[in-house]
Amino acid sequence: MSTHSRTGKIQWTRKHLIGINDLSREEIEFILDTAQGFEEFSTRSIKKAPPLRGKVVVNMFFEDSTRTRNSFTLAASRLSADVIEFTEKSSSVSKGETLIDTARNLEAMGVDIVVIRHSAGGAPKLLTRCIHACVVNAGDGYHEHPTQALLDVYTIRQVRGPLDGLRIGIVGDIAHSRVARSDIYAMTKLGAEVTLVGPPTLMPARVQELPVKVSHRLDDVIEKLDVINMLRIQFERLGGNPFPSVREYSRFFGLTVDRMKRAKPNMLVMHPGPMNRGVEIESEVADGPNSVILRQVSNGLAVRMAVLFLVNQAATQETKEK
Ligand code: ASP
Ligand code: CP
Repeated sequence: MSTHSRTGKIQWTRKHLIGINDLSREEIEFILDTAQGFEEFSTRSIKKAPPLRGKVVVNMFFEDSTRTRNSFTLAASRLSADVIEFTEKSSSVSKGETLIDTARNLEAMGVDIVVIRHSAGGAPKLLTRCIHACVVNAGDGYHEHPTQALLDVYTIRQVRGPLDGLRIGIVGDIAHSRVARSDIYAMTKLGAEVTLVGPPTLMPARVQELPVKVSHRLDDVIEKLDVINMLRIQFERLGGNPFPSVREYSRFFGLTVDRMKRAKPNMLVMHPGPMNRGVEIESEVADGPNSVILRQVSNGLAVRMAVLFLVNQAATQETKEK
């Protein structure tokens, strides 16, 4: 837990970012404010700053990624770090090397920050016990995807102001979505009212323990929403068939031009990506005037710069105090 200084400002002391569930509202807001400071970087002609000069960041991705991996790479290089790109497919994991041995070997090369995406929930947390480097979770199983949630709330705050009292719908495959879990924590901690929408078969176990409302009909809630976050069905994680057909799923839960007519005119349309156009969202909506989907991606860069900057600062402080 980060502490408050005498001026009331947060003293960031976390050298790992594993999940939003661990963070207080103040800590989330502190990351967002730090990200805001980095946002202007993208508009500069020379897009480099020195805070991570001499540091090494490894992107350890055991699952595919377009947005998260590339924006961590860009964020680290804008902060002047050296970046190692590790991919499971071309690594010695195929020869039987474990996750922990892989991480320890990379650390032996002088790695300071490990950014990890893994299909096993808990893998980033495990690494924090086995290596000294900072660990940043880039998505673990169905558990959490903290930087996605941070960029989501950053985007909402940027467009609509504070989240307090906003009604946000998260629609689709909640059960298998780490984005949904992190979003629920981030959005509710910032004061939004979250409704999960989807078929009962795609709701997580013990959903009643989460600080959310639940609906099984998008048509019942769409008119009330200020923000809608459409999720991809995580087909790669589904064991069986959670609904009769994709066409039927789209009919009940897809964000179509027709449904948009019943939404508030300024409802924000979000999606973490990758999208399955024509399944959870129609192309005209994804590319339409309410969509902030590409803005989310742009904001991911500033948010990830902030996260790398803060965990490195905490690690540097820890070393000084030893
Ligand atoms: N890209 C996000 C994730 O890795 C969402 C998705 O894949 O649907 O969790
Ligand atoms: N939103 C997201 O995490 O996208 P990638 O899987 O492409 O990183």
